[in-house]
Amino acid sequence: MARTTMIAGNWKMNLTPAEGEALVKGLADKVGSGVAAEVLVCPTFTGIPAAVAAAAGSAVQVGAQNCYWQAKGAYTGELSAPLLKAAGCSHILIGHSERRQYFGETEQTVNKRLNAVLAEGLVPVVCIGETLDEREGGQLETVLRRQVEGGLAGIGAKDLQSLIIAYEPVWAIGTGVTASTEQAQEAHSFVRGLLRDTVGELADSIRILYGGSVKPDNAAELLGQPDIDGALVGGASLKLDDFGAIIDAGC
Ligand code: PGA
Repeated sequence: MARTTMIAGNWKMNLTPAEGEALVKGLADKVGSGVAAEVLVCPTFTGIPAAVAAAAGSAVQVGAQNCYWQAKGAYTGELSAPLLKAAGCSHILIGHSERRQYFGETEQTVNKRLNAVLAEGLVPVVCIGETLDEREGGQLETVLRRQVEGGLAGIGAKDLQSLIIAYEPVWAIGTGVTASTEQAQEAHSFVRGLLRDTVGELADSIRILYGGSVKPDNAAELLGQPDIDGALVGGASLKLDDFGAIIDAGC
């Protein structure tokens, strides 16, 4: 089944609203009303309104990097899926490895956030991936299985139609070390198998993005793999030229 390539940028804790606005304007000029790949940017929370305004009328979509699972209430400092939807977000990243590493994210909290995002009709981008110790200790498949089965637990196939997975080996994030295309394809194919066990044939229509030091010079080869359906880009998404070149590689 054909899967539209998605090129997503995760700005993490970078770019002021003004810097983000300039970047999104450049992207909007580049993609206009649409190119062969879907394009998504995930600014900081404070950068979302300016990014949404700059993306208006173009095919650039704006997402958030996280959300809380309650819809509203006394949860100081949190933002819910309905609030992010009202701000103009179409997608929400869930379970990024930095959230797992520094902010106590677990399979259970990924699952709660996923339910909240789906309840709003937003597109969840669920991030998974192993650490170097886990890979070197022969735990790759165990970890991916735990993350997929735990994160997606109890969610029916119909609800998962919009799901996007991002496989991001932790050792490749922000390090300049990319998984080889063979390592990446192998992991993606394993993850698709896990999805098939969970959601059956729908697995063939679920996009699995690769993330971890994706750059203009390695994007085309990674995106050329049969089970790699796009990229989740950190560092290289902060510069228009680099992100633009990765979009070109996905078109
Ligand atoms: P990176 O980050 O491209 O800077 O390695 C990717 C990510 O964390 O999503």
